[in-house]
Amino acid sequence: MLERSAPGKVILCGEHSVVYGRPAIAVPVAGLRARAQIEPARGGLRIVAADLGEEFWLRDAPVEQPLAALARLTLEHLTAAEPDARLTVHSELPIAAGLGSGAAVSVAVARALVAFLGHELGAKAVSTLAYEVEKIHHGTPSGIDNTVIAWEQPVYFVKGAAPEVFTVSAPFWLLIANSGIPSLTREAVQGVRQRRDAERACYTAYFARMGQLADAARQTISAGDITALGPLLDENHTLLRQLGVSLPALDRLVASARAAGALGAKLTGGGMGGNVIALVCVERKAAVAEALRQAGAVQVWETLVKEDGLPPRH
Ligand code: MEV
Repeated sequence: MLERSAPGKVILCGEHSVVYGRPAIAVPVAGLRARAQIEPARGGLRIVAADLGEEFWLRDAPVEQPLAALARLTLEHLTAAEPDARLTVHSELPIAAGLGSGAAVSVAVARALVAFLGHELGAKAVSTLAYEVEKIHHGTPSGIDNTVIAWEQPVYFVKGAAPEVFTVSAPFWLLIANSGIPSLTREAVQGVRQRRDAERACYTAYFARMGQLADAARQTISAGDITALGPLLDENHTLLRQLGVSLPALDRLVASARAAGALGAKLTGGGMGGNVIALVCVERKAAVAEALRQAGAVQVWETLVKEDGLPPRH
């Protein structure tokens, strides 16, 4: 049995505006992973994703089935024949919650299949395969999810450009709190597009400011000035509210984190549900986590953002 995995992700600054060409910053969540196990079997490729309620033979799966699409694209990329194998997928990531579960599953499956077939693929190639499947999930994805998940490093991302890996001078803690409200990124992105088409000048200004916040966040992280990062996250949340992608439940979580001593807090990902993140110093971590639970979070995770010391995996 061979296993490969991929992390979840959170966007620190710049979700939605990244779809319109502005920069964004995302970091992997190493402790929350999707896993794909593969072992020899008979009769073709059998894909089992119990968490998703899916089990099928590759040859019988429709074109738009995301796992099947990923497997077919990977085989095509390697010019390999369908193997006789059983591929099992598990994910610790909540689905439809802004943590990149779709891209994490894609990257884990691509990595497992590639390794089973005796090949190696770098982050760029794996990310490109996962991006094709993101289009099935999300319609018009920017590509930030598959990129940060395949690279497994904090990235400064501009749609269509190579991701930039940057220095994290001082590691910092984030709490991730799940509102328990499922939300499809595709719908949140479509909603923003409709409102932006109706009020173009206003939305262009919001997106521009979000891009400036992402640039400023990169500078503060590179300088190790984590206290200065907090207000940037707060302002980003205000702008996301103006875009219409927050909900009272998310605002409540954000407010509770700030009141309990978080340095900054915001929703993360598409919004309309899903998760919020809170930037915390280590002394306030437990108190902020408790405040988030009291304010309705159904799960709270913590992650330390740092460089892994490895060169970028292209
Ligand atoms: C989803 O994680 C982030 C969004 O900006 C959509 C995208 O970038 O494709 C909302």
